[in-house]
Amino acid sequence: MKKKFILSLAAVVFSLPVVADEGMWLLPLLKQQKFPEMQALGLKLQDYDIYSPDSASLKDAVVIFGGGCTGEIVSPDGLLLTNHHCGYSQIQKHSSLEHDYLTDGFWAMSREQELPNPGLTVTFIDKIEDVTDYVMKELEKDTDPNSMNFLSPKYLNGLAKEKVGEKFLQDNPGTEVEIKAFYGGNVYYMFTKKIYSDVRLVGAPPSAIGKFGADTDNWMWPRHTGDFSVFRVYADANGNPAEYSENNVPLRPKRWFKISIKGVEEDDYAMMMGFPGRTNKYYTSWEVAERRDIDNTVRINMRDLRQKVMLEEMLKDPSVRIQYSSKYAGSTNAYKNAIGCNWAIGKRNFEQVKKEEQDKLIAWSKKMCEPAYPEALLILEQIISDRKDLRFRSWMLDEAISRGIEFSKVPTSVQSVINALKEKDREKIREQMHLLELAYHRFADKDYAPEVDKKIAKVLLKEYCRQISPKKQPAYFSLIDKKFKGDTDCFVDYLFEKSIFGSEDNFNKFKARPSVKALEHDPMIQFARSVQDEKNAIAASLKDFEDGYSLAHRTYVKGLLAMYGNQANFPDANFTLRLTYGQVKGYSPRDCDYYGHQTTLDGVMEKEDSTNWEFVVPERLKELYNTRDFGRYRMSDGRMPVAFSATTHTTGGNSGSPVLNANGELIGINFDRNWEGVGGDIQYLPDYQRSIIVDIRYVLFLIDKYAGAGYLLEEMELAE
Ligand code: ARG
Ligand code: GLU
Repeated sequence: MKKKFILSLAAVVFSLPVVADEGMWLLPLLKQQKFPEMQALGLKLQDYDIYSPDSASLKDAVVIFGGGCTGEIVSPDGLLLTNHHCGYSQIQKHSSLEHDYLTDGFWAMSREQELPNPGLTVTFIDKIEDVTDYVMKELEKDTDPNSMNFLSPKYLNGLAKEKVGEKFLQDNPGTEVEIKAFYGGNVYYMFTKKIYSDVRLVGAPPSAIGKFGADTDNWMWPRHTGDFSVFRVYADANGNPAEYSENNVPLRPKRWFKISIKGVEEDDYAMMMGFPGRTNKYYTSWEVAERRDIDNTVRINMRDLRQKVMLEEMLKDPSVRIQYSSKYAGSTNAYKNAIGCNWAIGKRNFEQVKKEEQDKLIAWSKKMCEPAYPEALLILEQIISDRKDLRFRSWMLDEAISRGIEFSKVPTSVQSVINALKEKDREKIREQMHLLELAYHRFADKDYAPEVDKKIAKVLLKEYCRQISPKKQPAYFSLIDKKFKGDTDCFVDYLFEKSIFGSEDNFNKFKARPSVKALEHDPMIQFARSVQDEKNAIAASLKDFEDGYSLAHRTYVKGLLAMYGNQANFPDANFTLRLTYGQVKGYSPRDCDYYGHQTTLDGVMEKEDSTNWEFVVPERLKELYNTRDFGRYRMSDGRMPVAFSATTHTTGGNSGSPVLNANGELIGINFDRNWEGVGGDIQYLPDYQRSIIVDIRYVLFLIDKYAGAGYLLEEMELAE
């Protein structure tokens, strides 16, 4: 009976009632679940135009860019658009004080000038299959009631490989298969992916455009950022994925998006496909409180401290600005998200919203004689309460030490060097020292400034020790009391002075006279090991809670799905391909105030502030503005569009997603959300939440008029 129920879940279209525009929909279920509503809202395409299991459809032009963004193909020659902030680390890696592409932008004026990016990949989703029955059958063979296989990527991907067979993977280079759990492990889908690893940078605007407004404007509407960059996917002569080679050729993709420069009006239909990373729609009320009081609060407090130091150093020294710009942006991004999330939790009383849903399930379960669901809720409540202290320690260690202090990541595998030194084998010593030197330079790379790290460490360590009692700190921290009478600053100075990784100088001295003792007693190595040990210990203690949580969470979600029955619903985001649709729309942030849906270059000029690095406007852009040289990209009233907002339901990972009109033509590139809307990861906020999208007309204008790279437009298909 039980089994039958689980199996039926996969096939049935379920569940919780959703508000219009809410939802990150799975493509294979789109037709049954949402298609009529999409058409009612204005969509002019057929379902198979968007997604077809057996032939090329629009979804084939949507890709995973790198490890956490979305991108879209816009030409038959593999040209790809994504965000500036998604290509940021690549742009930054190619930058130096001599070629400062971050500041000046970069444009390849021919294919030969495109820049390769080792390590960067672009992933196409060739096939999506419901494999719930298959996975459930396999899982039944596992008789351990506490088995966590139902969520284990290793186990699930093993099943995926078995299902397609080794030969299939051998015959299809660059192809990988993956099975992912949905609805907490009540449903499974398999994805067949093709991964290309020769991806070249074609162009990026200067940061003053691509990141205009920087951290002040991040997560904000009205927005004036030209957040895009351009890449190209290369393949071998047969169109297959291949490592970078001069002989590779531009990929001939199955599909690419046509581009519309007709522009958008308020209430126009808009939709997006992309890879939303993670949402928590199925949180219980206790998890909402935990997220607010532990996760978000620790993150906000620790990053606040770290960023203040970083910013001060960046403003003082242009080379530090280049070194730390990417780290700083990454840090403030999640920081501001946490602030917005806590705001929405309070403002919209998410705790109460989730509690009402739980109560509803409890009442329904009583009626249906289904005790398992209320039991799961009791278990969840207990677990969240029991893991409180450990979770706080884990977040503090992570935010203040592991993520906060860079030297907590110095190389620690030095045993082979020690062995070689002990054996006094010269050849081995040379070889091992060479490896250690490489590891050191990977840690202290061109973007590492020991002075900055030292300053940050002093601030964070002091705060960590203030909040975490000595017994609950990494063991090595006991030195702070023993040797330095509790003075964390002296401890940090000592680490930098005595460690072989404390400075280039220290390392060179060690290199000249390597010794076993120096390695065995190195304070940064001991610091890093001790932090790792503490991390492992906390993770091990948390594991029981996590497992219990996942098992109960699965049951809770199953209960909700059973209760709501046939009402269409979507699973939490898990970095799989989804579609969201809605309308181009502004919003009212407060009484008697309305933000329109479209921003323009006029707003860029209004925000211009040559004394504030975040709001500097490049001369060339001012010139184009002053001469109104907007070409065919202008709006009907003559202004130059920059960005627009829409009600689509998006989250982190949706950056770079193609935004399409009712005809499936590209009208913009998603890059952000308003901060009032980030709580939508827990509960969609129809009146507050907006995706922030760079208008494709601004993108084309910048490529063509600003950068003078109009030759790129020749390979695109423009629907005027
Ligand atoms: N908030 C956007 C996202 O979550 C953009 C981040 C990049 N921009 C920045 N100023 N940090 O990724
Ligand atoms: N900027 C986010 C990203 O990188 C998207 C914003 C959001 O969370 O909606 O994916």
